[in-house]
Amino acid sequence: MARTLIGIDIGGSGIKGAPVEVVTGEPSPRTKILTPKPATPQACAEIVSQIVERIGLPGPVGVTVPGVVDHGVVKSAANIDKSWLETDASSLFSEAIGRPVLVINDADAAGIAEMRVGAGVGRNGTVAILTLGTGIGSAVFADGHLLTNTELGHVEFKGSDTEHYISGKMRNDLTWDQWAGRVSELITYLAFVLGLDLVILGGGVSKSWDTWSPLLDVPVEVVPAELRNYAGIVGAAMATADFYPGS
Ligand code: BGC
Repeated sequence: MARTLIGIDIGGSGIKGAPVEVVTGEPSPRTKILTPKPATPQACAEIVSQIVERIGLPGPVGVTVPGVVDHGVVKSAANIDKSWLETDASSLFSEAIGRPVLVINDADAAGIAEMRVGAGVGRNGTVAILTLGTGIGSAVFADGHLLTNTELGHVEFKGSDTEHYISGKMRNDLTWDQWAGRVSELITYLAFVLGLDLVILGGGVSKSWDTWSPLLDVPVEVVPAELRNYAGIVGAAMATADFYPGS
């Protein structure tokens, strides 16, 4: 049955939301408000509430956060305001907007969307979605089942956090060849330790996919993410529909 819910993606520069038909993943045009500075949980809750009000659609809401989220509580804050640590984001947002809210990790949300309606449709085996932005987000699926809260961007690689070796931010300091070399090294390593069958690459740099993907040298199939800026929003709405069936 057709059902449309609001998905909201909290990012470093913008907080974006849209109504999403949760089976087809079809989003309506999105509403974007700049991320407040500092981006404390309270300040973000205020924006989330404004976006929900502007969209004006009833029902539970899905929100992504760029950190580990355990039953609605934020457990890591690598690239976000430290005051998020141990914040019960589900309760905070749900009190702000007066309805149920599901909060999940941003990359997990993007992964759910890519697996259901994007580059991972019909793909079994072990699939990793990596979002290369300010940080590196990851979502790992085994035969379509999500292993929540993987943090592959924080695996130590070449003596530092993977996220520092290879993030989208780092891309500006490297040639395309150097960049693709680093991405290849990381993917080769992850494919080996996780037994990956497919890697889906998303995040800002996926826009220039045609420029650098021919430079990749990896032992596993790698494809670009398909949902671009909408992946987090779509996945948040889909996960919310699963969590709050029929409400
Ligand atoms: C965080 C992840 C997040 C990723 C992308 C990382 O720094 O630890 O939880 O998914 O950034 O936003």
